[in-house]
Amino acid sequence: MGREFIVPGQMVTGAGALDMAEATLGQFGKKAMLVTDKVMIELGNCAKVENALKNQGIEYIVYSEITGEPTDTMIENGVKQYREAGCDFLIALGGGSPIDSMKAIGSLAVNGGNISDYMGKIIDAEMPPMAAIPTTAGTGSEATQFTIITDTKKDIKMLLKGKVLMPDLAVIDPQFTMTAPPKITAATGLDALCHAVEAYTSRKAQTLSDTFALSAVKRIFSYLPAAYHDGKNEEARVEMSVAALEAGIAFNNASVTLIHGMSRPIGALFHVAHGLSNAMLIKVCLSYALEGAYDRFAELGRAIGAASLEDSEKEAAEIFLAAAVRLTEELETPTLAEFGIEKQAFFDVIEKMAFDAMDSGSPQNTRREISQADIEQLYRNLW
Ligand SMILES: [Fe+2]
Repeated sequence: MGREFIVPGQMVTGAGALDMAEATLGQFGKKAMLVTDKVMIELGNCAKVENALKNQGIEYIVYSEITGEPTDTMIENGVKQYREAGCDFLIALGGGSPIDSMKAIGSLAVNGGNISDYMGKIIDAEMPPMAAIPTTAGTGSEATQFTIITDTKKDIKMLLKGKVLMPDLAVIDPQFTMTAPPKITAATGLDALCHAVEAYTSRKAQTLSDTFALSAVKRIFSYLPAAYHDGKNEEARVEMSVAALEAGIAFNNASVTLIHGMSRPIGALFHVAHGLSNAMLIKVCLSYALEGAYDRFAELGRAIGAASLEDSEKEAAEIFLAAAVRLTEELETPTLAEFGIEKQAFFDVIEKMAFDAMDSGSPQNTRREISQADIEQLYRNLW
């Protein structure tokens, strides 16, 4: 069966990446909207991108109202400002939230309507040029055709999709990821691990996505602890940025599975950051998925050097699971209770969460049959 493999139009990685990408940005249009958040302004990261635009004689406005994971309200305000200022292209600087916001603002600015109109449909209309400059090594949004926007009226995370949402340019420059604090490094790094592991064990995995997923998993096990314990370790930061990009490319072309499916409802209802709710779910979800794909998990166990050819497939798969759980512990992933969620409040919404998880379609990519009742049980196990 023929398979498509989609990557950003252009990727620039490593030290000096922004300088190298400047001329390309200069050709994207006449006036940019720079989508970011206040922290990026305070850290001076925004000024670096503004300087690049000034060097190219490009006009711009800064939209820094992305105060957390993107909501329909943030997107609608962004679209209004984009239109009023007469912008013709977009740049996102930040973690997954500004990048996801950029994609949604771009779709609405040219195609109109409300963001909820696009849920469940493939977005295929024309888009303005988009450049993504990630400042965390995790979400991989710079390399995906997805965006997740919270519908504040229904309390659900809407997954929007379309090839046109893939950024035209991804700039992976370590000068931006060096500033991420340990908690963000941990959550986003484990998000990238989920992307890679889920892509590798997805029913939709393909040869090329396997290459990127395997490479990402190896890099993450080798460098995430170092990036977490010592944020100034430039080698670890560079390797993690590359890993996040590889993992993004992998899941963009192979889909995510159970962890992401179950994570989005927790995020929407209890405001747990995306990477963190994924990290919390690693043990419970992979324990379930293992039985359907011992061979795949065994390959991961051997790839990270934890299992050997002498171990059976089942043993090697279990060794990988144990290594992944140890990593979440080393990175001090809290439980739901430690995060501050009330037990009763959580149990009250298990049925809704399980329904929303199944409805997203992601759990069904797991290589083991799964029903809504199974997912309800997994949420109970998680507590
Ligand atoms: Fe993710």
